[in-house]
Amino acid sequence: MEAKKRIFSGMRPTGRLHLGNYLGALQNWVRLQDEYDCIYAVVDWHALTTGYEDTSQIRDNVREMVLDWLAAGLDPERSVLMVQSHVKQHAELHLLLSMVTPLGWVERVPTYKEQLRELAGREIATYGFLGYPVLQAADILAYKAQYVPVGEDQVPHVELTREIARRFNHYFGPVLPEPEVLLAQVKVLPGIDGRKMSKSYGNEIPMTASPEEIQRQVLNMVTDPARIRRHDPGHPDVCVAHVFYQAIASEMAGTVAEECKNAAVGCVECKKRLAGLVEEFIAPLRERRERYASQPGLVREILDDGANRARKLAEATLQEVREAMRLW
Ligand code: TRP
Ligand code: SF4
Repeated sequence: MEAKKRIFSGMRPTGRLHLGNYLGALQNWVRLQDEYDCIYAVVDWHALTTGYEDTSQIRDNVREMVLDWLAAGLDPERSVLMVQSHVKQHAELHLLLSMVTPLGWVERVPTYKEQLRELAGREIATYGFLGYPVLQAADILAYKAQYVPVGEDQVPHVELTREIARRFNHYFGPVLPEPEVLLAQVKVLPGIDGRKMSKSYGNEIPMTASPEEIQRQVLNMVTDPARIRRHDPGHPDVCVAHVFYQAIASEMAGTVAEECKNAAVGCVECKKRLAGLVEEFIAPLRERRERYASQPGLVREILDDGANRARKLAEATLQEVREAMRLW
């Protein structure tokens, strides 16, 4: 049997994930496990590049996010689930790659100037933040990953990874293969107010929300603003609830749209029914999360095992890298 191709991806430790994170990324990561050897890392050092002033939440955020990964169906038997800072080879490779990375390359990464502007006042004009994409390149190249499943916004980072690998190979011989992006067919889920779903807006539905949270958030969803009275015909295309029908119960979305346009159903009733569907969708995730969370020390064990497996792979690459660079 041919060896499976290797995948690497990383996510910053943001704590509990929401349904948008699940449908937009995590569900794809889960599916990829069937076909590939997957390494998924919580990139805690990357979180520090923009959030070094207050690190008090970082441990909790790692644990909460990993529980959501497990809840989603990432399988610690098949895949390597790890924390970036547990595998020091990432740091060593970051340092070595930084030597061959021209300053201009990192300065012209689109997210760099953008974030400097957006996070103005957060004092992120640091050495570490500038090196963010070089660290990302080290994450990927340490495992010689063939594919990197990420969203559109990360494409320039993978492109830079390829350029850094090429430059390294030019000086030191063919050691680091160039990875390719694996673009997911992303479903973008709005928050309950119609803006981008984000914890900072409070408009999210947690991936493993409680039944009460589901009821509250779904019943507060923004519907067609032109539909004032019960007998007014509605416009499902401008309704957040309808987007959710499409995302989690697509087989019903057509019927719902018809009933809406004919004023055959009221918005409250329509959203109550949706809340039931969201509950059905989330319940198995919530139950799996509870199974993992209720066993003391289990998350730590999974991450220790992941780090051990990852370290072996990364160390093999680093030995080749040191050798190619004639380090002693
Ligand atoms: N930069 C990525 C993000 O913000 C996270 C990340 C870090 C990553 N290292 C990676 C993604 C390696 C893919 C591969 O989403
Ligand atoms: Fe949205 Fe349903 Fe109301 Fe139509 S009936 S506007 S789809 S909540």
